[in-house]
Amino acid sequence: MEVSLTLKPTSFPRLHKDIEITIFRIVQEALTNAYRHSETKSARVEIDRQPDKVKVRVRDYGKGLSTSILDGGRSASRFFGVGLSGMRERVRQFGGEVLLSREEPGTLVEARIPLFGHPTE
Ligand SMILES: Nc1ncnc2c1ncn2[C@@H]1O[C@H](COP(=O)(O)OP(=O)(O)O)[C@@H](O)[C@H]1O
Ligand SMILES: [Mg+2]
Repeated sequence: MEVSLTLKPTSFPRLHKDIEITIFRIVQEALTNAYRHSETKSARVEIDRQPDKVKVRVRDYGKGLSTSILDGGRSASRFFGVGLSGMRERVRQFGGEVLLSREEPGTLVEARIPLFGHPTE
């Protein structure tokens, strides 16, 4: 599986260690999922450093998440393995959220992590 990385902006200072670890885990899990479950040939990772938050997007071009996982909201968590729910839980500890969406084709995992207002300050 070929993976590309885009940083926005192309260079920015280090983030708090706990945030960096969280970003690493998100990318690790989402790429592992893309490789294991989606049958994609490629994936894209984008890390978007905004003034008040960082957005991490992992997109694949595979078969897509099942609707039971996408539409069920909270109740869908029972379909998750440890991966997606662990990702959600970790991002929630920072006051952030994880959005899962079906693309044409594939899956987009987007985590939004606020950079202020949590215990890492
Ligand atoms: N990128 C993806 N493409 C297609 N299906 C996926 C993708 N990511 C996750 N899934 C589906 O969602 C389920 C839950 O994912 P996850 O919580 O990471 O658990 P696990 O990877 O351990 O099965 C997977 O078993 C798989 O069916
Ligand atoms: Mg997984």
